[in-house]
This record gives sequence, C-alpha cells and structure tokens, in this order.
Amino acid sequence: MTRVAIVGATGYSGGELTALLARHPRAEVVGLFGSGSGKAVPVAVHPTLRGRALPTVAPFSVDAALAASPDAVFLATPHELSAEVARPLLEAGVKVIDLSGAFRLASGSDYERHYGFTHPAPELLDEAVYGLTEWTDGALEGARLVANPGCYPTTVLLALKPVLDLLAAGAPIVADAKSGVSGAGKKSDIAFSFSELSGNFKAYGVGKHRHEPEMRQRLGLHAGADFVFVPHLLPIVRGMLTTLHVSFSSPVSEEALVSRYAAAYGTAPFVNVRVPGELPELAEVVNTPRCDIGFVVLPGGRRAVIVSALDNLLKGAASQAVQNFNRVFGFAEEEGLS
Ligand SMILES: NC(=O)c1ccc[n+]([C@@H]2O[C@H](COP(=O)([O-])OP(=O)(O)OC[C@H]3O[C@@H](n4cnc5c(N)ncnc54)[C@H](OP(=O)(O)O)[C@@H]3O)[C@@H](O)[C@H]2O)c1
Repeated sequence: MTRVAIVGATGYSGGELTALLARHPRAEVVGLFGSGSGKAVPVAVHPTLRGRALPTVAPFSVDAALAASPDAVFLATPHELSAEVARPLLEAGVKVIDLSGAFRLASGSDYERHYGFTHPAPELLDEAVYGLTEWTDGALEGARLVANPGCYPTTVLLALKPVLDLLAAGAPIVADAKSGVSGAGKKSDIAFSFSELSGNFKAYGVGKHRHEPEMRQRLGLHAGADFVFVPHLLPIVRGMLTTLHVSFSSPVSEEALVSRYAAAYGTAPFVNVRVPGELPELAEVVNTPRCDIGFVVLPGGRRAVIVSALDNLLKGAASQAVQNFNRVFGFAEEEGLS
C-alpha cells in the first residue's frame, strides 16, 4: 500500500480526495490535515466517507505531515501555502501532488503578476510536471512534484489541444466557461451567499482570471494572442461547462475532427468524446471522474463550436489528482476511480 496524506482534507477538493483515496485499493490514508484542530471532513458533503475509519483531521505543519511517514502528500490548500511547503516535503523524500496553482506557471515573475505573491521556491517550477494526465507523455512516471491543472484549464485544454494546429492564425479563440459555486472553495463571502447566487447568473474575472495565463502558456499562445476567456458563475454547487468558438485555417470535415479526437483520447479512460453534433450536459458528468467533449462543425467547415464538461471537484481537481498519483506510482490509471 502507498501511504498518502491529504492537506486541506476539510476543504471541498480535499474532501473529495479523501473520499477517493479512502477506497483506493493501493492507497492507505495515513494523515488528514487542515488549518486547525477540531475540524472534520464533512460527511454531509462527502457521504461515501460515512462510517469509514480514517485518521482524525489534525492541524497541519510539515513536521506533523512527515510524522505520518507518507510516500505522497496531496496539497489541496491555498496557493501560497502549497508554494511554501512543497520544498521541505520534497527534501524529506516525499512526492507532492499539488492541487493549487502554485506550480502551474512558468516563472516566479508570473506569480507576482497573476497571483500577487513572491514565489518562495521558483526553482521547482521547471521540475513540476503539469498534470493534465492525458497530455503528460510519460513525464508523470516517477515524478516528484505534480502541478494538478486548474478546473477551467482542464476543460479548455482537453478540448483544444487535439485541434490546435488546425486553427486559423490571428482568428480569436473564445472560451465561454461556466462553473458551479464550489469552484471557489468553501470560503464564506457575500458574493457566494445563497441570496446573491440563487436565481442569478453572471460573468466575472474577465481579462484577469488566474487561469488565463495558465491556459495561454499550456496552449503555447503568446500574451497578445487573441484568446478570450469569459468565466461565469452558475447558481449550482458543482459542474463546469466550457463552450469554445474556433475558426480553422481551411475547411475541416466532421470526420477529420473525429479522427483528431480519437487519436488523442481513443484509449483515455476519463475523456469521452461524443459523436459529432452531440454535446455534453453537466448532469451527465457531475459526480463522475470524466470530461466529456462534443462538437458541431458549422456550415462551410471554417468554424466549429466545441463543448467540454466535467465536475470541477473531480476531473477538475481530485480525480485528476488520483489519475496523476496512479501514473506517478505506476498503477493503472483507473485504480480507485472506476
Ligand atoms: N474548488 C475547486 O473546484 C478546485 C478545482 C481545482 C483546484 N482547486 C484548488 O485546490 C485548492 C483547494 O481548493 P478548495 O476549493 O478545496 O478550497 P477550500 O474548500 O476553501 O478548502 C481549503 C482547505 O485548505 C485548508 N487550509 C487553509 N489554510 C491552511 C493552513 N494554513 N494549513 C493547513 N490547511 C489549510 C483548509 O483547512 P480548514 O478547513 O481547516 O481551514 C481547507 O481544508 C486551492 O488551491 C484551489 O485553487 C480547487
């Protein structure tokens, strides 16, 4: 059994991770940590945990986590905390799978600009493997540090990467994305209160969302490229759906796109590409570890609409982290997820 500890187990994505790893046949949960004592993983939010024998949630420190002798530590914590504690954990010989944004961007200066803090361990940014599992090309096997992708970037990158080289240079790529409220974590803030959200729908963070530089870098788009990302907040708890509007440099057939997606995801257990014209809905992916992708080629073949949907707490966070854990330790990708 591989010994795992979860920091941030009392949060939304850490709670999902705890639920997945508690029933993983190759993992033993040896430590659960939060910011203070007396907190528990909420069984109301994660009902599969009810009745499971798990360690009590303890206040986190690097020493407390290492005292549990983990082989791997999952960090489902604020970015600044992940950035600070990854290095001492790695130096102690523990593998780190980080769900925050702390190791996703290319350089320390990106963190000052987009996250508003000075990165305490910029030398690790090169080493961190960006864990968009289906596009890691063997880099995860044996990796020490995994940067799990953001939820919006997972929807956008999985949908766009197979067709990127077909897109018309200079034409805008529009990513119109919608997320359930759990995407913001469990923090209490008036903007996320029931009265503000119920019966409401709004765009936010346009032109300044932290996931935008992550997507640009991972798509190889320079800062001035015409990539328009518009996140929206849906009045639902979980689920994320992105509609992409793209233009091709020359007319493209449905069959050509079918073969592109089949080449990319034909053997991928958790990316499900629909037949042309069939678009995924949130209800089909929420509470699953899958990303579903569908597309419609518009008349003339110069433009297409691509829709990508997933559960932000699963394929957008915890289940992708478990996919990455499985690859790092050489287990089958589906272990603990099917
Ligand atoms: N929510 C999503 O859909 C999603 C998707 C992808 C990635 N992520 C990323 O995953 C990370 C966690 O997000 P979340 O939405 O699960 O957040 P969350 O619900 O707000 O939970 C945050 C967790 O971090 C813990 N924490 C905060 N400060 C800490 C400290 N100083 N020491 C130890 N633990 C501390 C909290 O513990 P207490 O409860 O004890 O305070 C809680 O368990 C974030 O970096 C987020 O950007 C989230």
